[in-house]
Amino acid sequence: MIKVAKHYDAIQGYIPAVPVEVLAKSLGFSPQEMIKADANENPYGASGKVADALVKACYPHLYPDPGAVNLCSKLADFVAAPADQIMVSNGADELILMLIRLFLEPGDTLINLPPTFDMYDLHAKLSAANVLEIPRKADFSIDYAALRKAAMQPECKLVFLTTPNNPDGQLMPKAEIEALLDLPIMIVVDEAYIEFSSNDNFGRENSIISRVPEVQNLIVLRTFSKWAGLAGLRVGYGIFPAWLMPHLWKIKQPYNVNCAAQAAAAACLDDLDYYQDTIQSIIAERERMYKAFSALPNLKVLPSQTNFLLCQLQGHTTEDVCDKLKKEGILIRGYNKPSCPNALRISIMKPEQNDRILQGLEKILKGGTPS
Ligand SMILES: Cc1ncc(COP(=O)(O)O)c(C=O)c1O
Repeated sequence: MIKVAKHYDAIQGYIPAVPVEVLAKSLGFSPQEMIKADANENPYGASGKVADALVKACYPHLYPDPGAVNLCSKLADFVAAPADQIMVSNGADELILMLIRLFLEPGDTLINLPPTFDMYDLHAKLSAANVLEIPRKADFSIDYAALRKAAMQPECKLVFLTTPNNPDGQLMPKAEIEALLDLPIMIVVDEAYIEFSSNDNFGRENSIISRVPEVQNLIVLRTFSKWAGLAGLRVGYGIFPAWLMPHLWKIKQPYNVNCAAQAAAAACLDDLDYYQDTIQSIIAERERMYKAFSALPNLKVLPSQTNFLLCQLQGHTTEDVCDKLKKEGILIRGYNKPSCPNALRISIMKPEQNDRILQGLEKILKGGTPS
């Protein structure tokens, strides 16, 4: 009998979310009434220039530019890196998968630092690689001694450092990344949320991108899904050491970023004032919600440099709180695993939506009998 490859047997796989329209109908809400605070999308949406670009600059009957030359040249200005060391992708997810395929042969090991973004672990397992877990400490900081020791093992080839980290939202100081660059492994710094780490310059001072051209084992990943409001169009990018580019080109799908996505992402970079404003609104709301959540009983909220807050529950279960909020039309992300027990990750939305989340949470935490 023909079977799929053995290493897939033990993998649970990705469980796709129920579309909001379907969920809204089943809960008796209109889609507009639903609050989708579970995937860290931008509640303000993309710049108006994106809609124009999709009409004017997109040619659906032609294959897209495989090199996304226009977009890469705008990105080169945005991140102050050489255009020929930038590659764009179908979401940052695609680059995570490509890097795992490039660096890990079956039997090689990815060092994973849970809790963190799930895709590193999933893609490594899908590629028949091993995953060595080095759990973060209770304050979500990295166990550097264990990481350094693991990186000296010959089978360990790659680590993703996520700054700020998902789900805790905390920034990794640049000096701490710098101190790891002497390790004999590839260091991929995932900066998916870095644009929310400063009020006025897209997190530039917290980024390690300027070091990429000088360091042979440093890669930085970014995405348009969070700050730029393009999650549905799927655009990510990476900045890579020059020696790696020919290898990336070898394994890249030729037309990985479609013409609509390329035009939209370029239009975002032409409207940075709009994004600066929406980022500032999100940061202001994040700080307001941090204070408001801190005043709730049975909830410990962590400071965040992202567009979400992680809250640790006491006396209530994640499942119960998520279910009750869902009945109010509010979707949030629940965590309940050893590396992140009994926690809620809540995306920052528009002020009126945040008020509804706060009221919903308040009702559950103050009203319910703690289990
Ligand atoms: C830390 C981190 N990296 C990467 C991604 C993937 O981004 P994209 O939508 O560009 O695939 C996410 C998405 O949630 C994320 O949280």
